[in-house]
Amino acid sequence: MSLDIIVKIAYLVASVMFIIGIKMLGKVATARDGNKISAVAMGIAIVAALLNSGLNYYIIFAVLIVASIVGVIMAQRAQMTQMPEMVALLNGFGGGGSLMVALSEYYKYVTDESVAGLDTITVLTIVLSILIGAVTLTGSLVAWGKLNGKVSGKAITFSGQHGLNAGIFVAIVILAGMAMNTPEAVTYIMAIVLLSLLIGILVVIPIGGADMPVVISLLNSYSGIAACATGFVINNQILIIAGALVGSSGIILTQIMCKAMNRSLMNVLLGGFGQTSGGGDSIVAGGGSEIVAKEIGVEETAMLFDSSSSVIIVPGYGMAVAQAQHIVRELMELLEKRNINVRFAIHPVAGRMPGHMNVLLAEANVPYDKLVEMDNINDDFANTDVALIIGANDVVNPAANTNPASPIYGMPVLNVQNARTVIVCKRSLKPGYAGIENELFGYDNCLMLFGDAKQSITQVVSELKDM
Ligand code: TAP
Repeated sequence: MSLDIIVKIAYLVASVMFIIGIKMLGKVATARDGNKISAVAMGIAIVAALLNSGLNYYIIFAVLIVASIVGVIMAQRAQMTQMPEMVALLNGFGGGGSLMVALSEYYKYVTDESVAGLDTITVLTIVLSILIGAVTLTGSLVAWGKLNGKVSGKAITFSGQHGLNAGIFVAIVILAGMAMNTPEAVTYIMAIVLLSLLIGILVVIPIGGADMPVVISLLNSYSGIAACATGFVINNQILIIAGALVGSSGIILTQIMCKAMNRSLMNVLLGGFGQTSGGGDSIVAGGGSEIVAKEIGVEETAMLFDSSSSVIIVPGYGMAVAQAQHIVRELMELLEKRNINVRFAIHPVAGRMPGHMNVLLAEANVPYDKLVEMDNINDDFANTDVALIIGANDVVNPAANTNPASPIYGMPVLNVQNARTVIVCKRSLKPGYAGIENELFGYDNCLMLFGDAKQSITQVVSELKDM
């Protein structure tokens, strides 16, 4: 069997394993194995790619070793709360990689006389690879900066911004046409690189920091499309298949997030939502009413639990901020010891990244069969003694069902108000990400347990232990 055939078979095996791996990532129970299968597939693909002749193995292995060491150190140092920014950075590197490969192919065509000249289709794929790769690189770097506070999380806007973006895009299209006409004119390609890098920055700066998870998912999809385009440039099947898989799954995830927030992708990309409330410190009242809330202390909370037989815990962004997941798991165990049925209700966009609550609770060793998705648990609130909301706000706001004037009207929410008693654990009556007040806090069956989630739940746990 020739080497070429072996490489092709290896690519085929890796592609099938990628597809199986992605499918397995769709369920919590199989996700770890899915991840391992995909990692092995990537290993096979790398080895097969290295079997190509004419490679400089010294350089490749030197880069591989240095990059692996840096990657391991970065991954070990990253806290769970830093995951979104880490994903943003790695997406950016993916885009940067596609940009470099496309540029090196172009360089090869214009400098190496033994290589056949550039045809229109090749120039088009090179330009696409450069454009998408560069936008992914700089867009992801801005998203990374916004998430870690190095760049302002607020939307950065100026007049004529959309016009400028459109103008740059038109200029890139014109330059691409000129490059196709005279492929050896390096200036056109270099101008496309610079303008693409610039447009990546310009399209992400007007988006508020809290919308970055959607942007990251979209950029993740772009990095896949860039890899796919690069696959066409260098005629590599595995890059085309893996890139298409990343591109399409990223788009699907972006759509799921937008749908769960009841917002269009355009609404997210053009900014103007949640920017003033990222820190949760302003109220844009829906109807301007003053909410009169009733308070509950830790001792009464523990007593209420003691007399209940079913509890649903609703975690939100505040649980992540307070890092309260471990003490929440301890609370769950204590309640279960008292024969109380405890489950967690998971809203698809609770927190600030896809699967945020699942990841945090898994980290705290909460069994995944305790986590129930919104659609499967919403009807059960009516038969539940206590709904305990920990640092969640928008995802339990009844205005999404009752107030057509509310910015979140139509967003599917958890019907916590149907439980016999609702306890909301947060520090104040301030709004969450959407910047709107929550009428739930004024409901007759709602009691506020004010304070930091970790501190409050720790106190409730020690009260329960003393009972
Ligand atoms: P939010 O509506 O943002 O509410 C979080 C609440 O946590 C705040 O009201 C805050 O109230 C409280 N909090 C903050 N720190 C706390 C602490 N140390 N202890 C206790 N409470 C604390 O969160 P949510 O209900 O999870 O909703 C998520 C929002 O993010 C949705 O609007 C969603 O559309 C948006 N979003 C989500 C995603 C994804 S993919 N998850 C992506 C983009 C946007 P206090 O300040 O009073 O404590």
